[in-house]
Amino acid sequence: MSKKSLLRMLPAIVLLHAALPVSAQEVLDPDPNTLAPSKDPRRTANGLAQTPPMGWNSWNKFACKVDEATVRATADAIATNGMKDAGYRYVVVDDCWHGSRDANGFITEDKTRFPGGLKALSDYVHAKGLKFGIYSDAGTKTCGGRPGSQGYEYQDALQYARWGVDYLKYDWCSTGVRNAEEAYALMSDALRASGRDILFSMCEWGNSKPWLWASKIGNMWRTTGDITDKWQGKYNYSWGVVSIADMNEPLWPYAGPGHWNDPDMLEVGNGGLTDTEYRSHFSLWAMMAAPLIAGNDVANMDAATRAILLNTDVIAVDQDPAGMQGHRVWKDGDREVWSKPLSDGGRAVLLFNRGDAPATIGADWTMLGLPRSVRMQVRDLWAHKDLGKRAGRYEATVAPHGVVMVRLKS
Ligand code: GLA
Repeated sequence: MSKKSLLRMLPAIVLLHAALPVSAQEVLDPDPNTLAPSKDPRRTANGLAQTPPMGWNSWNKFACKVDEATVRATADAIATNGMKDAGYRYVVVDDCWHGSRDANGFITEDKTRFPGGLKALSDYVHAKGLKFGIYSDAGTKTCGGRPGSQGYEYQDALQYARWGVDYLKYDWCSTGVRNAEEAYALMSDALRASGRDILFSMCEWGNSKPWLWASKIGNMWRTTGDITDKWQGKYNYSWGVVSIADMNEPLWPYAGPGHWNDPDMLEVGNGGLTDTEYRSHFSLWAMMAAPLIAGNDVANMDAATRAILLNTDVIAVDQDPAGMQGHRVWKDGDREVWSKPLSDGGRAVLLFNRGDAPATIGADWTMLGLPRSVRMQVRDLWAHKDLGKRAGRYEATVAPHGVVMVRLKS
């Protein structure tokens, strides 16, 4: 075509381009500057997890005792108890679903625990409008001693795709001298090659600082060792929730749409903390734009647990589309202020009292990067109350081990 006739067609081409849905434009337009960075599969692992993944995982409550009936009952509960409507999507079977490899090397399920098979279970979860996840490991064996994926990456990814798996958590036991970046990149490639959209949850406990290299490999990476259902401190290979939050907090610059810091699954409802402490746990995770993966028995939870997991005001902070991880902006002994910038120009603010006595904690607008004079509407996200407009500062008395969480809007 001559340059002249191309020029004559230009207005029509421009018009057509503007009228196309965004996804079609992305396919047509090779200029990476026209794509939202996080939606560009060349800049993130796969374009999935634009907001922090939400769902349930079997490990914290059921560990190796997970079975088909439990997973079905959990999917039933999530679909009907409000969790699905609140955004919980992925039903993930953690370690110990595996049987042995068959004569051709394909992984099979443990037929005692999963007599109906993983394909049927996946179909069941999908029929509830939910997504299905499983677990494997980059080494020869999983942490629970089942067959790992080392040397079988493409074959396992293919099998997962055949089963309809939407989410893979990939652990780091029995990996010997393997290089983490190489091992995770290999499975990431294998998942992409399977042809199915599979969210990739990396679990190497932050050992080799995945936040520095994994944003194009995985959708989330564990930043710490295992969480345990205690308030704080280190216990063998696991840590209490506040200690986990402290390790994850400084990594805030590395999180964003498509690639999240993962301070591990929630312990809310597992019985080791008070309800006040569980509210703090859930609030801290939401402030940090962490994946919200419930780890309790959601089919049999009490009203207090339910009210925490279903606090849609707090969930909206976690799921804010700007995808900024909040962090600590002020500290004086046990009293802290955390701030998370939101896509509407406002802030989520957490007043956190680590101490054993009630404490008054105040957030000055200047700590939040807001001009002192600006009047902001304040909503208390646990009291579910609008508190009117304030300028300069918001202050409250905070219960021991508790939080006050507010949302500021101009
Ligand atoms: C590791 C992981 C846990 C869990 C177990 C399963 O400890 O960090 O989250 O998956 O393995 O064995």
